[in-house]
Amino acid sequence: MDQIVIRGGQRLKGRIPISGAKNAALTLLPCALLTDEPLTLRNLPRLADVDGFGHLLNQLGCSTTIEGSRPEDFGRVMTARATTLTSTVAPYDIVRKMRASILVLGPLLARAGEATVSLPGGCAIGNRPIDLHLKALEAFGAEIELASGYVKASAPGGRLAGGRFTFPVVSVGATENAVMAAVLASGTCVLENAAREPEIVDLCNCLVAMGAHIDGIGTETLTIEGVDRLHGATYRVMADRIEAGSYACAAVITQGDVELVGANAAEMDATLAALREAGATVEETKAGIRVAMSGRAEPVTLSTAPYPGFATDMQAQFMAMATLGTGASLFTETIFENRYMHVPELARMGCDIQVKGRTAIVRGVEGLVGAPVMATDLRASMSLIIAGLAAEGMTEVNRVYHLDRGYERLEEKLQAVGADIERISAG
Ligand code: EPZ
Repeated sequence: MDQIVIRGGQRLKGRIPISGAKNAALTLLPCALLTDEPLTLRNLPRLADVDGFGHLLNQLGCSTTIEGSRPEDFGRVMTARATTLTSTVAPYDIVRKMRASILVLGPLLARAGEATVSLPGGCAIGNRPIDLHLKALEAFGAEIELASGYVKASAPGGRLAGGRFTFPVVSVGATENAVMAAVLASGTCVLENAAREPEIVDLCNCLVAMGAHIDGIGTETLTIEGVDRLHGATYRVMADRIEAGSYACAAVITQGDVELVGANAAEMDATLAALREAGATVEETKAGIRVAMSGRAEPVTLSTAPYPGFATDMQAQFMAMATLGTGASLFTETIFENRYMHVPELARMGCDIQVKGRTAIVRGVEGLVGAPVMATDLRASMSLIIAGLAAEGMTEVNRVYHLDRGYERLEEKLQAVGADIERISAG
């Protein structure tokens, strides 16, 4: 397994290109299943999860062709076309490796009137149930059966009727599956307390470009009037707001000055406010967002929440940044039940962090010491990179396959702004 080795102490200075958003790409790719015409996605990030999703689409009979990239994009262009579906089954061996595979459930049900998808199971950060996905689909008329680890969904008469569903808990994935199921229903579907993440706005905008009728985009109430068919489209994946926020934390902890090229400040209010609370200079530029810091970070008090609140996907990275700050910072993780896996690893580097249930208190220390550490999940592994960039000496991050799921060309991007970082391939 590859390792990433960092010799800390370099201030990051320069421009970091921000790739297309992983969590937008993973909900845009399944949209190709909703039509027999080609869907072309631009600015698609080069990530393990994107490749994995392409493989899943191929298994279902959807062709995927990479067409290079355009100069104004950092990502690739991929055209996906499901002229006819050859399968409506998402098998366990694929779903268990990438839980976002569950996002083929809604589109398969809409296009083919049936779907058999393995239950994704839990992961490091929580047990990640999909009950809300299933309840929303049932509200639209789907019949759902759970058998030997699989969800078997069908639409009576081959087409969902429509209906109304209020989410008791905001769920990004369940909102995405429900929207993709609703666009081809015979009637109108209404979702209340829907997730409002920018990635869902991207999904809705892409579906509208394909001919869907969706009102309330960006709000917590989505009204989808079903249509008989969708057509192909070309759509550009939004910039990755979590990648941008992650590199912003790296700039602050190294007391650097970076420009996040392609980042969209309008989608990052809570993250930018947290950076300013930590004492960083944050300003919009023509090309993106500039983040600069001199001195140690001020203490922050951050509680994760659904968008537009402070993103749970930014918690581990801000915690790493706070470890070298002044005073005590307080974090509350309200979304996932086990999203502090980075804490024991950060402690190996000399961080002072105390976890009590859903809250963590981080007391800033004068310095961190590089150490061998273990990545456990995507954002936890980024927090270890961030700490390593500012630690004294060498940090070895193991199990970097977690990182490769969500951070495109991480070492290249950090080397380009002065980090002493390299990947050691284990062959
Ligand atoms: C998406 O996961 C993201 N993944 C996650 O990013 C992100 O952390 C999460 O949204 C929250 O923003 C992708 O977009 C591929 P949820 P998702 O459904 O959809 C509970 C990353 O690091 N819940 O919004 O799985 C759930 O247990 C990843 O990029 C149910 O109870 O998250 C959690 O407590 C990690 N029943 C809460 O809702 C359900 O049916 C929010 O989960 C679904 C969810």
